[in-house]
Amino acid sequence: MNETPAQSNGRPIAERVATRLLYPTSRPRAKTLREAVDGKVVLVTGASHGIGKASARKLGAAGAIVLLVARSADDLRQVAAEIEADGGTAHVYPADLTDMDAVERLARQFLDEHGHIDVVINNAGKSIRRSISDSYDRFHDFTRTIDINYLGPVRLLLTLLPDMRERKQGHIVNISTWGVLMPPAPQWAAYGASKSAFDVWLRSVAAEVSGDGVATTSIYMPLVHTRMSAPTDFSRVPGLTVDEASDLVCHAVTTRPREIAPWWSAPVQAWTNLTRNQVQRFFERGRSLLPGSSSRT
Ligand SMILES: NC(=O)c1ccc[n+]([C@@H]2O[C@H](COP(=O)([O-])OP(=O)(O)OC[C@H]3O[C@@H](n4cnc5c(N)ncnc54)[C@H](OP(=O)(O)O)[C@@H]3O)[C@@H](O)[C@H]2O)c1
Repeated sequence: MNETPAQSNGRPIAERVATRLLYPTSRPRAKTLREAVDGKVVLVTGASHGIGKASARKLGAAGAIVLLVARSADDLRQVAAEIEADGGTAHVYPADLTDMDAVERLARQFLDEHGHIDVVINNAGKSIRRSISDSYDRFHDFTRTIDINYLGPVRLLLTLLPDMRERKQGHIVNISTWGVLMPPAPQWAAYGASKSAFDVWLRSVAAEVSGDGVATTSIYMPLVHTRMSAPTDFSRVPGLTVDEASDLVCHAVTTRPREIAPWWSAPVQAWTNLTRNQVQRFFERGRSLLPGSSSRT
C-alpha cells in the first residue's frame, strides 16, 4: 500500500505522534524476553485473535511453551502453526471460558499434561457498548460479559493458584482496561462493571498470594485497534496496534510490575476524585451527543 507523506505504518502521522505521547510503549530486548520465558509454560486465553494472538506469537518465538485457549479451534490451530513455523512450541485447547465446568476441567488438564503453569495471560474478553435504554430486554449482555470477563478467569485461577502457591512461583497478567481507572463512562455499564469486578478480585487476591511467590500484573490497556474495538468508531482516536499492545504484555512478563497504566491516569484519577460531581454532571449534560450502541455481536 502506498502511504501518503502524512501517513506512517498505515496510520496518519498525527495519530502516531499522539499515540506515542499518550501511550509510550517499548519492546523488550529479544534476549531479555527469551531469558524470562524460555522453557516456561505460558497460558494465553483469547489467543485466537487480537492482543492474545500477537502476544502468544511473541512469547512462543522467545521459547515459551504456549497453551492457546479460545473458542475458534481453527484459528487457534493457525496460531499454533505460525508459532511452530517460528521454531516455537504451542498446544491448542479450544474452550468456551463461560462454561464454568469446562473451565475447571481445562485447568486440571493443563496441570495433568504440563505439570504446572508459570504464567497466565488472562486476555479473553468481550466488550459491549450499549445504552441502558437499549438494554432493558438484554439481561444476557450483563451475564455474558460477567461470565467471560470475571467468572471464567476466577474459575480458572481457583484451580491453578494452589499449585502456583505450592511451587512458590507464578505470574498472572491481567489485560484490564484504562476505563476501570476512570469515572464510569455512559453506555459501558456491562463491560466496565465486569472488567472492574476482575480487576478488584485480582488486586485483592494479589495481597494474599504475593507472599507465596505469585506475582500479579494488571495492564490498564488503552484503546487497541482490534476486531473488538472496531464496531465502535474509534478510527480517529489514538490507539495502539496489536503489535504495540503485545509489547506491553511481553514487557509485563519480563519485568513483572504490579501494574502498567498510561502515565496520565494517576493525575486524571486524582483530579476526577476531587471533581466527582462535576464529572458526573458533564456526562449527564453530554448524553444527547452520545453515538448509538455498538457490539460485535
Ligand atoms: N481492544 C481494545 O481497545 C481493548 C482495550 C482495553 C482492554 N482490552 C482487553 O483486551 C483483551 C483482548 O481484546 P482484543 O481487543 O484483542 O479482542 P479480540 O480481538 O476480540 O479478542 C478476544 C479474544 O477473546 C476470545 N474469547 C472471547 N470470548 C471467549 C469465550 N467465551 N471463551 C474463550 N475465549 C473467548 C476470542 O476468541 P474466540 O472468539 O475464538 O473465542 C479472542 O481470541 C480483552 O480482555 C479486552 O477487554 C481491549
